[in-house]
Amino acid sequence: MRINFKSLKKQAQKSIGKSRNFNELNEVLKEYLGKQGKLTLILRSLEKMPKKQRQKIGSQANELKNFFKEKFEKKEREIKEKMPKASAASKDWIDVTAPGKKPQLGHLHPLTITRREVESIFESMGFSIAEGPEMENEWYNFDALNIPKDHPARDAWDTFWLRQNEIKNQKSKIKNERMLLRTHTSPVQIRYMEKNQPPLRIIAPGNVFRHEATDASHEFQLFQVEGLMVDKDISVANFKGIINQFFSRFFRKEVKSRLRPDFFPFTEPSFDVNISCVICGGQGCSVCKQTGWVEVAGAGMVHPNVFKNAGYIKGWQGWAFGFGLERLTMMKYKIDDIRLFRGGDLKFLDQF
Ligand code: PHE
Repeated sequence: MRINFKSLKKQAQKSIGKSRNFNELNEVLKEYLGKQGKLTLILRSLEKMPKKQRQKIGSQANELKNFFKEKFEKKEREIKEKMPKASAASKDWIDVTAPGKKPQLGHLHPLTITRREVESIFESMGFSIAEGPEMENEWYNFDALNIPKDHPARDAWDTFWLRQNEIKNQKSKIKNERMLLRTHTSPVQIRYMEKNQPPLRIIAPGNVFRHEATDASHEFQLFQVEGLMVDKDISVANFKGIINQFFSRFFRKEVKSRLRPDFFPFTEPSFDVNISCVICGGQGCSVCKQTGWVEVAGAGMVHPNVFKNAGYIKGWQGWAFGFGLERLTMMKYKIDDIRLFRGGDLKFLDQF
């Protein structure tokens, strides 16, 4: 049996030299010293050889084995030396060709979209935006708005009263200390007029709360927009002009309005504001209950007692209105259940 140890040695050295990592190096090891490895087979065949030949081939095979081991271990050390760098690099490694992960983008709540739109339309007509507290006292929410203590009109705005200990840190100069979650944004009329002199035109958007059994068109928390315009001779005609303009711009189509008598203690006369149905254009449909009109706001000419309570002296007149943002949003986007706005259902919200 003749074995070309010289060429085996050369081959082994070449293969070890070519290996770039442990995997490749292990393949070479297998090739020579694995179960069926070239060198393993030679070593295994030794026992069947005649003594003389066994000695000769055995020593050559062992020499090759040692040579192989030496080269192998050297290469192993080399690869290991490069390793720390390689692993640090792989930690920071970025596959720039991998498809990107799309971040989920947030978006505005439908009521926020509507509120911003309402604000921008009124701002363009010279209105400023005023705010008041959601936790209000009885004076601003009721008394100052000409709703005396035992007046039945208070029942229309049944609300959430707050426990006294929850409000003991509130500074208030008020005649009446009882606190509540405001039932409407009308208290902002008084708060604003106390601090500002006419002429003025403001809107006051904000949350209001009512003790209400909820259903598709009733919620216990609503978003209202109050409007107030005061000057020397502000009339109902001014009011109609402004709201026609507002609704037409908001719904992006010609909208007519009509005023019907209503009652609010803080306005005189008071109106129920109707607009021509934006769904059917006044023809009659299920939204307007076949009447062609939908109620959208309460309004009226500011009651003299309200001016008095805000500290205005005689000679001013103006109008005020209040509407619910949910109602407008529902009409604009054809939403049929008011509870969807605060229900937290992403299937609904993701549509905006
Ligand atoms: N505050 C009234 C309500 O919540 C609406 C309103 C505002 C009516 C201003 C007249 C004037 O129902």
